[in-house]
Amino acid sequence: MSSDRCSPSTVSIALAERSYDILIGPQLLDDPATWQGLPRAAVALIVSNETVAPLYLERLRIRLLAHYGRVDAVVLPDGEQHKDWPTMNQIVDHLLGSASDRKTVLFALGGGVVGDMTGFAAAIYMRGVPFVQVPTTLLAQVDSSVGGKTAINHPLGKNMLGAFYQPARVIADLDTLDSLPSRELAAGLAEVIKYGPIADPDFLDWIEANLGALLARDKAALAYAVKRSCEIKAWVVGQDEREQGLRAILNFGHTFGHAIETGLGYGEWLHGEGVGCGMVLASDLSVRLGLMPPEFLARMRRLIAAAGLPVRAPRLGAARYLELMRVDKKSEGGEIRFVLIEGLGKAGMRGAPDSLVAEVLEANAA
Ligand code: NAD
Ligand code: GLY
Repeated sequence: MSSDRCSPSTVSIALAERSYDILIGPQLLDDPATWQGLPRAAVALIVSNETVAPLYLERLRIRLLAHYGRVDAVVLPDGEQHKDWPTMNQIVDHLLGSASDRKTVLFALGGGVVGDMTGFAAAIYMRGVPFVQVPTTLLAQVDSSVGGKTAINHPLGKNMLGAFYQPARVIADLDTLDSLPSRELAAGLAEVIKYGPIADPDFLDWIEANLGALLARDKAALAYAVKRSCEIKAWVVGQDEREQGLRAILNFGHTFGHAIETGLGYGEWLHGEGVGCGMVLASDLSVRLGLMPPEFLARMRRLIAAAGLPVRAPRLGAARYLELMRVDKKSEGGEIRFVLIEGLGKAGMRGAPDSLVAEVLEANAA
């Protein structure tokens, strides 16, 4: 795949009056067309963090000044450990302190942490103001900026406080990925890989064949990975916006992954690293329950390791894992429910005996 095949594309999320477009391509930040047709208002507020703001905030501000009389900015501390009430309150404090009205448009410039917090602030400020996602990590471009899940963490559980609240547009400028640290690129690949086993075996083949190009940040490869991921997510979210059933498949690997993140302390492992390792554990559980052949586990472990992600789980102890996983949003009546693969491209939710989960943890322990 060569870079000259990287042309802009649009994926649409069909949700009746909450429908919107995801723009994907290079040079979107500086293209005036990107910013046409957004909700009108006197004030726009850019929310970013101390890492991303120096890189891209002024470029965004210049574009927005063509559409909004005032463009404010709030720069948050960086890190998953700051995805909490006090940090999100900085957004709300600014909005109230500057007398921003209910038409004010929020722009989330950054990765999933900034996106999730900005979306939640937009959902609750004056019972809802419009917001636009400008994702700058691979993870945010392929997953977190799309679909309207917004949240902050609680010490007892990840993403436990939040709202379903859709953005007005998602603008995924692939050029912003140039400055992304390699570890963060790998974390984003975890969410890309996820879409293969749950929905699209051909995409899984494609990822395996193009992993080198993705790791080398080939723009055409990244463009296809972002587009195909967003198409699959749009297909899922279009049928089940509020996760009454189908949408849960997007959480493949996340039950174990969230437990690792919470158990180690937020920020120790990246979210995508937890998901990568969590997919190995969930694949193993799928095999042990007889849903998939052993070769599937070997294939997933090989791909996830080749992407630069951890495949061995931290030794938190099975009892602690089980305790953490019972707080997962998918749990029902205290029963942990895992997203498991039931055939390539097909996922479902199931419980599993604690003893089997403990076997999986032991077999894949660091
Ligand atoms: P992140 O937001 O912490 O960003 C990762 C790091 O990269 C940060 O240090 C950030 O400052 C930096 N960064 C961002 N863009 C950069 C750029 N272009 N150049 C250089 N550095 C850059 O993490 P993430 O992986 O983007 O997102 C993870 C979060 O997303 C987690 O909190 C997770 O729970 C959430 N999430 C939400 C959903 C959803 O549907 N809402 C889905 C998946 C994940
Ligand atoms: N990342 C899972 C979801 O959006 O449902």
